[in-house]
Amino acid sequence: MTDLTQGEAWQALEHHAPKQRNRHLRELFDADSARFERFTFRLDDLLVDLSKQRITGETLHLLRELAEETGLGEHRDAMFAGEHINTTEDRAVLHVALRHPVDRPMYVDGENVMPAVAEVLDRVAAFSREVREGERRGATGERLTDVVNIGIGGSDLGPLMVTEALWPYTRPELRAHFVSNVDDSHLARVLRDLDPARTLFVVASKTFTTEETMTNARSARAWLVDRLGEEAVAKHFVAVSTNGEAVAGFGIDTDNMFGFWDWVGGRYSLWSAIGLPIALVCGFERFRELLDGAHAMDAHFRTAPLDVNLPVLLGLVGIWNRNFLGSVCHAVLPYDQRLHRLAAYLQQADMESNGKSVRRDNRRVDYTTGPIVWGEPGTNAQHSFFQMIHQGTELIPADFIAAAKSSTPMGDHHLKLLANVLAQTEALAFGKTPEEARAELESQGLTGEELEALLPHKLFGGNQPTTTILYDELTPFALGRLIALYEHKIFVEGSIWGLNSFDQMGVELGKQLAKRTLPALASGQLAGLPAVTASLVEEIRARRGD
Ligand code: F6P
Repeated sequence: MTDLTQGEAWQALEHHAPKQRNRHLRELFDADSARFERFTFRLDDLLVDLSKQRITGETLHLLRELAEETGLGEHRDAMFAGEHINTTEDRAVLHVALRHPVDRPMYVDGENVMPAVAEVLDRVAAFSREVREGERRGATGERLTDVVNIGIGGSDLGPLMVTEALWPYTRPELRAHFVSNVDDSHLARVLRDLDPARTLFVVASKTFTTEETMTNARSARAWLVDRLGEEAVAKHFVAVSTNGEAVAGFGIDTDNMFGFWDWVGGRYSLWSAIGLPIALVCGFERFRELLDGAHAMDAHFRTAPLDVNLPVLLGLVGIWNRNFLGSVCHAVLPYDQRLHRLAAYLQQADMESNGKSVRRDNRRVDYTTGPIVWGEPGTNAQHSFFQMIHQGTELIPADFIAAAKSSTPMGDHHLKLLANVLAQTEALAFGKTPEEARAELESQGLTGEELEALLPHKLFGGNQPTTTILYDELTPFALGRLIALYEHKIFVEGSIWGLNSFDQMGVELGKQLAKRTLPALASGQLAGLPAVTASLVEEIRARRGD
């Protein structure tokens, strides 16, 4: 057994859980008329309603003890102090510095990193302003109207999710496109509609070695050179990376490179120069507001007592659902079309961080860790997978995320959207009892065998735990705060599970095998491949006529 499962708090939770598993949310609400107030927590206009989670005051108390017993506060402080909490890679984890006020120091290895952060931000501000105002143009003197970000994982999902979310802050004459997949159809689809003379490519890669990104970047470069000549590259390509040498090797002048640092993890990098496409299409001021929103959450996470600390509460409830109620997944359901890539973004943020089974102390876990994260925007999701949440056999905790006000108001659309948030969380909590279903069928004129046959299909078990996250409006500030809320929630969970949430060694094996398989596919040389892979290589080569 690990220290975690042997600890007093974990044991107390194990003891407490069976009782809670048998209690229905109906009962919890009936027993406490102040349940909404008791389990709703706020930071300015941000409200986190945990009242429809299957918790009591005692549950939260025991979970807080777990946080204290496992040293969550110390671990958090170590992150903010720039200590090397990414132990396997011996690195600091300081993405919080990227959104910190630039005149207040933050240290890594005794060095104040804020001057370097400020310098890159100034360059991002200047560059984005020049492009937006038409001072920086393409090789033929045309205005740049299309920005193509070439990157993958953290060098794609963050800026993609944010530029989609902030579209009301963009102008139609400056558009962002994202190419990530090595599948040629991704780049081909984007390039088909672009004018090279008006296109700016941002090659975004922390390492500048990622196969997908380098392949796409080389093909994009060839496309441009074909049409505008070699000298055009300097005006149409910039890079965002920590690897200046590889950027220069690729043929991008390091004057056209925006740097960041090894203490910024890929999936935590949208706040760095990786956010350049955001500054380009939304304007640097909006990007700064995004950073300020994240900083507001950092300050809250760092200083608020654990019992009112929003990321801590979300993380503790996540642990409760996963480890003590037995959920395997976590649904992210923004009732906001602008957040349609949030679930994809959080899949990397959460699953690449906490999808691990070896602890920081190098021992295997003896408990479950990060859940499967998935989701889609509401109300669309209601017309696809909600059936399963309402009447399936899995426990599916879900976050419902909504703004009270639309930024693009149109008739009563937004009220209808919000009515669905309230209706769904209510339905998931309380369900529909046999008595209610029977009365409803009777009111429709059904009786006897016909009624009895239909009745079981009309029941809703309810008791599906949900969190409602509500804020005034999805401004850049509110978005930054929301993303940071999730980042720190992931930190809290990883910290309590004893994981290093900041490496991603699980992605390596597939990369190694793909490298080995590529020459076999190209040449038919099968030596060294397992029989099953060799058979498929032959099959594919035959179909391709190789
Ligand atoms: O393969 C996983 C990963 O390393 C992610 O962690 C990262 O965000 C992505 O690849 C892209 O890496 P890079 O920015 O170095 O191209």
